Amino acid sequence: MIYSKVIGVGSYVPERVLTNDELCGIVDTSDEWITSRTGIKERRIAEEGLTTSDIAAEAAKKAIKLSGLNPEDIELILVGTITPDMIFPSTSCIVQEKLGLKNAAAFDISAGCSGFIYSLSVADNFIKTGKYKHILVIGADLLSRITDYTDRSTCVLFGDGGGAVVLTANTENARGVLSTHMHSEGGHDDILMLKGGGSLMPASLESVNNREHYIKMKGSELFRYAVNYLKAVAEEAIKFNNLKAEDIDLFVPHQANIRIIEATAKKLNFPMEKVFVNVEKYGNTSSGSIPIALDEAYKSGRLREGNLVLIDAIGAGLTWASSIIRW
Ligand code: ACO
Repeated sequence: MIYSKVIGVGSYVPERVLTNDELCGIVDTSDEWITSRTGIKERRIAEEGLTTSDIAAEAAKKAIKLSGLNPEDIELILVGTITPDMIFPSTSCIVQEKLGLKNAAAFDISAGCSGFIYSLSVADNFIKTGKYKHILVIGADLLSRITDYTDRSTCVLFGDGGGAVVLTANTENARGVLSTHMHSEGGHDDILMLKGGGSLMPASLESVNNREHYIKMKGSELFRYAVNYLKAVAEEAIKFNNLKAEDIDLFVPHQANIRIIEATAKKLNFPMEKVFVNVEKYGNTSSGSIPIALDEAYKSGRLREGNLVLIDAIGAGLTWASSIIRW
C-alpha cells in the first residue's frame, strides 16, 4: 500500500488586517453582528499588485523547505483556487515558474471552498497509482478581489490567504492520507456564484455596472446545506476507516463561520477542544482555509506526528469533501 505522507506544510496571509470596526465605516454593520453571526473579528486583505500565485508561492516555498526536498523533486503542482491570477495560464503554472519547479506538471482545480481537499484527493490518487512520488498541493484564494464591499451580507465574511502541503509516497507504514471523499451537486447557482467574466457573461460595461463580477450568496440557505453535508461527509470518512469520532485527534473544518463549525462538531460529538478554529483571524479564505489551519495547528503543536486529523469543507458547486490523514 502506498500512502501520501505530508512532509511539509506552510501558509501565507497578507499583512494588511481589515477589522470589523473598519468594515463598519464601509457598510451598515457592527462588530457585534459580525462576531455573533460568524465568529469573525478580522480578515487579511492583499495589497494592490499581490496575486493569488504570490500567496500560493510563498506558502509553497515554506512547505517545500520543511519537506527537505529540492525544487526539482516536485513532479506535480495542484492549486485549488477560484481566484486565479487570470483565466489562463493556470495559477499552478505561474507558481511553477516563480519557484523554479521545472520538472513538474501543473494544473488548477476549481471546486469553491472544497478546492484544497479536491486537490489533495487528486494528488493522493496520483501517488497511490505510483505515477508520482512528490506532489505539491496548494489551496489559495484572494477573495477580496471578487468581494462586493457594498454588500454587507457577504463582504464581512471573506479574506485572503493560502496554504500548501508537500506529499511524498510512503510505503514504510500507514502514515499519510487514509482516504478522501468528494461530492458535488450542481444546480445551486442561485445560492452561491460569480456570474460575470466567463463564457456565459463576458465582461462588459453592463456586467460591471450590474456588479456581476462579485460573489453573490444566499447565506442562510447555504448555512443549512453546510451543516448537513459537512456532517455527512465527515461521518463517511470516519466510517470508511472503521474509526469512531473519539479516535480523531483533531478536526480541522473549513473556516467559514463559527456557528457552522460548532453545529457540525456538535452533530459529530466532537468536543470543541478537538476542533481547530482560526476563523476569527482570517474569515473565510475559501481554498486557503484548511491548509492555513493545518499549518497553524502543526506549528502550534496541536497536530503532532502520528495524530489522526479529519478535514472537511463545502463550497460553490455545490461541492463538499473530507479526508482523514495520519499526520
Ligand atoms: N451586518 C448587519 N446586518 C446584516 C449583515 C451585516 N453584515 N448582513 C446581513 N444582515 C442582516 C440581513 O439584512 C437580515 O436583516 P433582516 O432580517 O432585516 O432582513 C439579517 O441580518 C439576517 O440575515 P441572515 O442572512 O438571515 O443572517 P444569518 O443568521 O443567516 O447569517 C450568514 C448570515 C453569516 C451569512 C450565515 O447565513 C452564513 O454564514 N451562511 C453560510 C455562508 C457560508 O458559509 N458561505 C461560505 C461557504 S461557501 C464558500 O466558502 C464560498
